[in-house]
Amino acid sequence: MKICVIGSGYVGLVSGACLADLGNVVWCVDKDENKINILNRGGIPIFEPGLKELIDKNYQVGRLKFTTNLDLAVKKCNIIFICVGTPTSKKNHSADLSNVYSAAKKISKNIKSFKIIVIKSTVPVTTGDKLEKIISKKVQRKLFEVISNPEFLREGEAIRDFRFPDRIVVGSNNNKVLKKIKILYEPLIKKGAKFFSTNRRGAEIIKYASNAFLATKISYINEIANLCEKTGVNVEDVSLGIGLDQRIGSRFLRAGPAYGGSCFPKDTKAITSTANLFKINLSIIKSVIKSNENRRILLTKRIKVILSNKINNKKIAFLGVTFKPNTDDMRQSSSLLMIPYLQKRGAKILYYDPSGEKKEFSKLKNVEFCRNIKDLCRNVDLVIIHTEWEEFKVLDFKKLSKKKKFKIYDMRNLYSPDVMKKNGFSYYSIGR
Ligand code: UGA
Repeated sequence: MKICVIGSGYVGLVSGACLADLGNVVWCVDKDENKINILNRGGIPIFEPGLKELIDKNYQVGRLKFTTNLDLAVKKCNIIFICVGTPTSKKNHSADLSNVYSAAKKISKNIKSFKIIVIKSTVPVTTGDKLEKIISKKVQRKLFEVISNPEFLREGEAIRDFRFPDRIVVGSNNNKVLKKIKILYEPLIKKGAKFFSTNRRGAEIIKYASNAFLATKISYINEIANLCEKTGVNVEDVSLGIGLDQRIGSRFLRAGPAYGGSCFPKDTKAITSTANLFKINLSIIKSVIKSNENRRILLTKRIKVILSNKINNKKIAFLGVTFKPNTDDMRQSSSLLMIPYLQKRGAKILYYDPSGEKKEFSKLKNVEFCRNIKDLCRNVDLVIIHTEWEEFKVLDFKKLSKKKKFKIYDMRNLYSPDVMKKNGFSYYSIGR
């Protein structure tokens, strides 16, 4: 099939490359000329494991193309995926849909033959209806169909998630279109992915309800972790103990810092905001948002307590600053609150992250990026394991602390409290 993907960010690039790898010809479009130039020169504008290799392979055989020319790409293709960003609006908690509407308007100027327009961007329920209206202003109704096909890709594992999804959700009442989309995803369905179709609004809600549910699971276990800390119980035993009940399930029950990233914080806010418009109070999700915000503050204050309330002149090392491993994404990462808080109170912060130095900290005095873990840990008072990158799981802390014994705050529970205690470390973790 000939596919146009509008928006070459995390979702668009991964979807485009994976769809090309399934044998389709894919045109990835972006208005950012710099991004398209990087891609056409063989570079990659984002960090996602395995993506560069997949792009190279499909670009070389001509199945994957990058362009800023949306008009041309839309004309050439019969399926158009909208994968543009829907960030939180600057005015309130709702999703800013300006990129989606602008894409729809541009698409509508280029429809001469039948096109399936697939909304992959995360959009509030009824957005598909609005897009249909916008496009109908310029195009005969029989020449297009707007459907919903939300993505469930985790950053850092997006290619695996695309290739081996639990389910593919498609929202449309048009059987002919559903059949076509099912053919597109046939290679994944053959490998075991469930194809689930419902109406368009249903698919739109499924996306938000999924993310909000996962965010709820995380906040839930994070609060239980607080209780575990006070009662001498290991939260990991609790996660296992409840997760073995198949009605609950063991995944997304890892206690840690507040959940971050571009999705859970944004989508929990957007769904409550949409519900408000329909005069529905999603009180559980509202509590989750609050609980997650409180958690950022709680853990930041805990750092202060670990340092016996003396932050001034303390040297603190951060292992990892991204919101999760295998990504360079800093959006809504807890480190964005913790590092400035500590720095403002006179601490000297050193950080190391496998995805490199971060512009978010470049203007902060006394915050420094270290190129290796050995230098990072030399002469510090406290080491904070903030992100669970693989390379942080096998550190020799005895060696790293030879010059000065530091305290360790392991926010991802990567190490055993018993072993740490035996080695003489003041070791703090989450819910243990
Ligand atoms: C999330 C969803 O998992 C994807 O299914 C969805 O497609 C995506 O949002 C999206 O809407 O685009 P992502 O934000 O990339 O994916 O990352 P997750 O792996 O879900 O992690 C989100 C946050 O939850 C991270 O801060 C992570 O550290 C935290 N988390 C996750 C926990 O604290 N505990 C867990 O057990 C799992």
